[in-house]
Amino acid sequence: MKISKRLNTINNRIINQYDHIWDCCCDHGQLGITLLARKAATKIHFVDVVAPLMTELEKKLNRFFSVNPAHKNWQVYCLDVARLPLENTHKNSKQLIIIAGVGGDLLVDLVNSIIEKHSEHDLEFLLCPVHHHYKVRTSLNELGFGLIDETLIRENNRFYEILHVSKTANKAIHPVGSSMWDFTRRDDSDYLKKTIKHYQRMAQKPDKEILNIIAQYQALIVN
Ligand SMILES: C[S@@+](CC[C@H](N)C(=O)[O-])C[C@H]1O[C@@H](n2cnc3c(N)ncnc32)[C@H](O)[C@@H]1O
Repeated sequence: MKISKRLNTINNRIINQYDHIWDCCCDHGQLGITLLARKAATKIHFVDVVAPLMTELEKKLNRFFSVNPAHKNWQVYCLDVARLPLENTHKNSKQLIIIAGVGGDLLVDLVNSIIEKHSEHDLEFLLCPVHHHYKVRTSLNELGFGLIDETLIRENNRFYEILHVSKTANKAIHPVGSSMWDFTRRDDSDYLKKTIKHYQRMAQKPDKEILNIIAQYQALIVN
């Protein structure tokens, strides 16, 4: 199946084998299907709140990935991601939760709800918000997450940051990004210019916090 460059980059970031991968806010389930086809986990879970989408997805998976019910390696849920049923999984199992394609505020709320309800699980998250990267990074820091890896990609002239994080990783999550930047690449300098311009526009209504964010992004060029 052909998937977008953004989803394929997320797919390629998944190197380790997991017991459970949760494709949250999965929409048509393209990412999860790719992971299922390459057996990236013992079980792939597809979660979205839109019932007709989930009914359609279940039919498709039954058609193409039909297995003996005793060894079913996928599951579809029509559910709010804030209520992910991790209580049905073993707390020592290796789990990856993917949340991509939703706004930063919602994404942080979802991560927060999941870790609050399931503090006994050691969870990895792969996160790809639409907008509000600074806020997402700051919030993840406050929630006690560390960085496993970060990637920057450009698709159709939009930029996305992909954050792989967990509570046990001890590398700091920098609010303006760290290892993802490579200023020898045109995309990276374009993204930085665009981001600084965005905050400069916001600073036209002067705000101390915004000026501080601009100074941090500008320091990336100087250092
Ligand atoms: C733009 S799609 C993202 C699809 C895919 N993850 C991607 O990155 O391309 C956003 C999806 O999030 C779902 N969604 C939004 N809030 C949700 C929530 N609280 N729980 C579950 N799904 C949610 C929507 O129904 C929609 O299908």
